Amino acid sequence: IPVEPFDLVVFGGTGDLATRKILPGLYRRFWAGQIPEGSRIIGAARSEMDDAAYRAMVHEAIAEFVAPDKCDKATLTAFLDSVSYVPIDARGTGGWQQLAGLMRDDVVRAFYFSVAPGLFGDLAQRLHSHAIADPDSRIVVEKPFGRDLDSARKLNATLAEHFDETQIYRIDHYLGKETVQNLMAVRFANILFEPLWNAQYVDHVQITVAETVGVGGRGSYYDKSGAMRDMVQNHMMQLLCLIAMEPPYRFEPDAVRDEKLKVIRALEPVGHDDIVRGQYRGGPRKSGDDELSYTEDVEDPHSLTESYIALKASIANWRWQGVPFYLRTGKKLRARTSEIAVVFKEPPHSIFDEDEAWRENVLAIRLQPNEGMNLSVMIKEPGPGGMRLTDVPLDMSFAEALGEDGADIPDAYERLIMDVIRGNQTLFMRGDEVEAAWAWTDPIIAAWEERGDRPKGYDPYSSGPEDALMLLHRDGRRWREIR
Ligand code: BG6
Repeated sequence: IPVEPFDLVVFGGTGDLATRKILPGLYRRFWAGQIPEGSRIIGAARSEMDDAAYRAMVHEAIAEFVAPDKCDKATLTAFLDSVSYVPIDARGTGGWQQLAGLMRDDVVRAFYFSVAPGLFGDLAQRLHSHAIADPDSRIVVEKPFGRDLDSARKLNATLAEHFDETQIYRIDHYLGKETVQNLMAVRFANILFEPLWNAQYVDHVQITVAETVGVGGRGSYYDKSGAMRDMVQNHMMQLLCLIAMEPPYRFEPDAVRDEKLKVIRALEPVGHDDIVRGQYRGGPRKSGDDELSYTEDVEDPHSLTESYIALKASIANWRWQGVPFYLRTGKKLRARTSEIAVVFKEPPHSIFDEDEAWRENVLAIRLQPNEGMNLSVMIKEPGPGGMRLTDVPLDMSFAEALGEDGADIPDAYERLIMDVIRGNQTLFMRGDEVEAAWAWTDPIIAAWEERGDRPKGYDPYSSGPEDALMLLHRDGRRWREIR
């Protein structure tokens, strides 16, 4: 379904995120027929260049990041015709009059702040003083949204000086992932799971976001953040919320966000013993070259920043009393795999022989790769050998189950940008949610900084530090394999 015609200004239009995700994503939506004629994309950044040079740059980005079968000449030309560029000085006056002159009254106006957070305030203020934004305009802001509660509050206050909360779209691209949205469909559109979705039947939950990439190239940003700020405070927190929240009364922005907020507010503080931080080591590669260690990647031999974190979180409410949520994420791990696993309890009484190995029912929701769901169930082993039990997976890959439609799952950014144009905030974080997430994160970070904790070393392409295994072993549980 096409969205309304729009003018989308991408501040930071020559940057990495714009060229890797935003512009190729917009092109794919254009190719799919979702962007109506008359819509315009206006890149804005500091570099002096004209429309033709910017179009050439966008063309290059599309060639690199969009599958060739979508890049036919006619579609490409039509898309590039809708693209233009304005050189702009975010902190000065240059370019703002020109941008104001381009704005049209009869289309949706959206402004994507794909720039350093330090510039959010300047952009917001200038959009107003030059009368570029109207009361229906939307702004899209990227993470990191602050680096602690104090800075997030200030950022919210700055944006609030010029924009109403209903105009502010705080992106967490995990919410745009197809499987993450599916999580809500699975929970709330089926009768099967919800009755079991509580402390009576769920033993624990594991949320894993493992990556194989290191931090090379982004070291200067990453070293100031670490896995807790980069992944846990936002992406993992959102996953946790969607798993743990109460059913919202409707699938509507504030109904959903109210429920997520309640989960964050119910999170218990996390003690020292319930966290393991890690940092990848270097090592020889098969090729004979050396694999750089984290400290070499960030060029600081003394860095204490974590590239891996595992922690045990608890939600102090009626539904989740006593159910641990184990979270782990890290760079340079064995495989790129993200999943949420809901591990159910044993049946209350076994009618089978004691020595029949019982294995728990697990509902695993795979975010990537090969998005899908897997439910492990116990069955009888085939054959005449008596009643022997074994577990088998009920496995579903969305791509296979949905045929062609499933094979072409849109990128998170595509979905989210279209939601901005539609004016739907359901998959965007509200200001109070972000603040609550920092309020939980801050004391955890402050405690390890105060103690001067060193992260544990782990080998590149392993499952992370040994100590992380203990986090579950001591509770009589084990992590699912990263593969
Ligand atoms: C980003 C983090 O927000 O998410 C990166 O800053 C991380 O460090 C990335 O690599 C992971 O996203 P995805 O979609 O590749 O899982």
